[in-house]
Amino acid sequence: MTSTEAHKNSNLRTARQAKNDEFYTQWADIEREMNAYLDYDADVFRGKTVLCPCDDPEWSNFAKFFALHFTDFGLAKLISTSFAPDSNPGLESYQPSLFEIESPQFDEVKTHTKGKVFTLLPEDISGDGRIDIEDLRWQYLQGDGDFRSPEVTALRDEADIIVTNPPFSLFREFLNWLVDGDKLFSIIGSSNAVTYKEVFPLIRSNQLWKGATANSTDMVFGVPKGADVNPTDKVKAERLGYPSDGKYDYTRLGNSCWFTNIEHGRRHEPLQLMDTADNIKFSKHKEVRGVGYQKYDNFNAIEVPYTDAIPSDHSGLMGVPVTFLDKYNPDQFEIIGTSDGSFAAELGVKPLGPDYVGNVGRTKLGLASTHKAVFKRIVIRHRAGAQK
Ligand SMILES: C[S@@+](CC[C@H](N)C(=O)[O-])C[C@H]1O[C@@H](n2cnc3c(N)ncnc32)[C@H](O)[C@@H]1O
Repeated sequence: MTSTEAHKNSNLRTARQAKNDEFYTQWADIEREMNAYLDYDADVFRGKTVLCPCDDPEWSNFAKFFALHFTDFGLAKLISTSFAPDSNPGLESYQPSLFEIESPQFDEVKTHTKGKVFTLLPEDISGDGRIDIEDLRWQYLQGDGDFRSPEVTALRDEADIIVTNPPFSLFREFLNWLVDGDKLFSIIGSSNAVTYKEVFPLIRSNQLWKGATANSTDMVFGVPKGADVNPTDKVKAERLGYPSDGKYDYTRLGNSCWFTNIEHGRRHEPLQLMDTADNIKFSKHKEVRGVGYQKYDNFNAIEVPYTDAIPSDHSGLMGVPVTFLDKYNPDQFEIIGTSDGSFAAELGVKPLGPDYVGNVGRTKLGLASTHKAVFKRIVIRHRAGAQK
C-alpha cells in the first residue's frame, strides 16, 4: 500500500469511527437509570452540580432531562457543554438552531468553530414560576468544547456528578478523564469495555460498576438520518417503538450499558444460588447437571459456564462468564482477575500445552477434561463470610 492509500484509509477509518460516535440517547433510558440511583438514595442529586459534557440541550436528552427535574431532584446547578461542529467529523451537515440564531450572542463563525456551555441555576429567568429549560443561559466556549480542554476540565472539577453518553471512540480516554477528576459519574459505553485494560482494574477494585439497567434491556439510540446501521437492529428499534422520524433514524445496540460509581440497589441484591450437590442434581444447564464442575489445566479454579450455576459452597476460585458483572454484588463476591488479554498472565494462567490445538502457548483457560480453551472468564470467589 502506498503512503497516500494508507493516509486515505486512515482518514476513512477516522470518519467511520466519528460517525459511530453520533448515537443519541433516548429519554426512557436516561430516566430508568437515574431512577435507580434515586430509588437507592432519594437525595443523590440534592444540592449537587451536574455536568453533561459531549451534549447539547438543543438535540440531546441529558440536559433536557436534568433541566426538567431541576427542582424535584434539588439540583444546585446544571451545566452542559457541546462540541463544535467543525471539530466533529461525525457531523455531515450543520445548521444552527432557530433558538441560537435568535439569541443576541449568536455569531456566524463561532457557531461552527466553538463549543457552547449551557447553565441552569435556581433562577426563574423566564418568569413562568418554575425552573426549567426556558431558564437555561448559554455562551460560546473559548475553544471547541473538547472534553479534554482546560475549560471543560475546569467544569468537570466544578461538578459533583457527570452524566453523559460520551463518543464511543473516546470511551477509554473519557473514563480516564472522569477518574482523574475523582467525581461521581454515570456514562454509557459498550459491555465489551469491561475487560479493557483501563476499565477492568477499576471494576475489580469496586471503583466502577455496571449500571442498574440495560444489562438485559435493549437500548435504542437516534442516529443521523441515513447513517450506516445494522438493518436488523433498525427493525428491532422500530419494534421497540422507535420508527425513523423527521429528525433521526433509530438503532438498537444490544451490548450498550451504563458504567457508574453511583450506588444503586441492583448491586446489593444477592444472587440466589444452589450448593454444588444441588447444582449437580437440579441445574438447568446440561454442562453441570449430572456432570459437576470441570477444572482448568493451567489455573487452579473451577469452570462455571453460567452465572446462575455458581455453587454457593465453593470456597476456591471460579471462572465465570463476563456477563456475571451484570449481577455482581460486591458484598457477596470478590473479583480476582480475568483470563482476558494480558490480565491472564497477571492472574497466573499458564500458557496452554500441545494438546490445545489452535491455542498452543496462549494464556486462555483450558479445560482439563476436553483440552478445549474457554472464552474469556472473570475469576471470582465468594467473599469471606458471605459464603453459605
Ligand atoms: C455518543 S454521542 C452522544 C450525544 C449525547 N450525549 C447523547 O447521548 O444523546 C457523543 C457526542 O460527543 C461529541 N463529541 C465527539 N468528540 C468529542 C470530544 N472530543 N469532546 C467532546 N464531545 C465530543 C459529539 O458531538 C457526539 O454527538
